[in-house]
Amino acid sequence: MDQYEVLKLLHEVTHPGKGDQDIVELGFVNDIKVEDRKVMLTLAFPGRKDPLADYLAGSARAVLYRNLPEGTEVEVKTVVKEAAAKKKQQELGTEEVEHIGHIIGIASGKGGVGKSTVAVNLAIALARMGYRVGLADADVYGPSVPTMTGTEDAAPEAIEEDGKSVILPIEKYGVKWMSIGYFARKGQALIWRGPMASSALKQLILQVRWGELDYLLIDMPPGTGDIHISLVNDIPMEGAVVVTTPQEVALADVEKALDMFRNEKVNKKVFGIVENMSWFTPAELPENKYYIFGKDGGLRLAESLGLPLLGQIPIVQGIREGGDSGEPSALSSRPDALAFLELAGKLVAAAE
Ligand SMILES: Nc1ncnc2c1ncn2[C@@H]1O[C@H](COP(=O)(O)OP(=O)(O)OP(=O)(O)O)[C@@H](O)[C@H]1O
Ligand SMILES: [Mg+2]
Repeated sequence: MDQYEVLKLLHEVTHPGKGDQDIVELGFVNDIKVEDRKVMLTLAFPGRKDPLADYLAGSARAVLYRNLPEGTEVEVKTVVKEAAAKKKQQELGTEEVEHIGHIIGIASGKGGVGKSTVAVNLAIALARMGYRVGLADADVYGPSVPTMTGTEDAAPEAIEEDGKSVILPIEKYGVKWMSIGYFARKGQALIWRGPMASSALKQLILQVRWGELDYLLIDMPPGTGDIHISLVNDIPMEGAVVVTTPQEVALADVEKALDMFRNEKVNKKVFGIVENMSWFTPAELPENKYYIFGKDGGLRLAESLGLPLLGQIPIVQGIREGGDSGEPSALSSRPDALAFLELAGKLVAAAE
């Protein structure tokens, strides 16, 4: 029994006055302490005491009694705090990411262009080349790393150290993985509100015991909204790789993503562009290339922006299947794995 198990259970406590959002989403869970047979939970209400505070405390107690091992003692306190969630988030330091060579965001303007596929396979390719690699899945709305890596059932351990808790990443395929998906109940959609999402995300990167790494990749959520800007600002990210398809509409969004990193306030590096779904090659006709989404859109974009094109990844059934089965294609010795190894080599060249 640990904090995260308790936190998971608390998702069952919903606030009838707030569209049935749960107390975790609402940011009311301020502190959870677990001592061998005892759980101490503090709910904090910002500004003033919520009229349903006692009701919520009672429901939380009931849910915990019902689900935790028999004989566990449960204590629930309610306090009123000025912007509790916010204060906590500001206290997060960057010690856990200080021994990382390069922190690189994998971004795109548009959803569904294959960011997560590229991020996961790139991480594995870098690991195959001998680098120490971690990947943080920063997509709080649709985390895909657990499925893509076959780690859906993993439950990261949290350890208490000097009064601070740190989460241990999941290790598989030579890479350290972290995802909000490890903390959500299966099939449950995560509905975070802006500030909660940002703060959960930061914890998921800054409160993880990454140890010494050469590369930490961050699979960014799609889009260029507030969450992204706060992420780019608060995580000591060195720069980004931007993923696109060769399609014109996708390219317009890419420019927005580039702007997010390169505007003078943020001023991060863009290592280059990855063009995904560059062409389709059927397994039975390996010499043929069909340019379904147009040809070389990513290449032209990279050229016009003066950025390197780090790779062109074909549409291959094995890549999709690898993502669905939890055995990413970069692990294989097929040509699609080579595309990711080549990409990894180019990224290293751009980053070192
Ligand atoms: N090169 C490829 N060949 C075949 N299938 C691919 C390729 N790239 C991505 N896919 C498939 O396309 C779908 C979307 O990819 P993915 O989830 O990586 O996109 P994303 O940009 O991370 O999406 P989101 O914006 O939802 O986070 C997945 O089913 C994935 O397996
Ligand atoms: Mg994704």
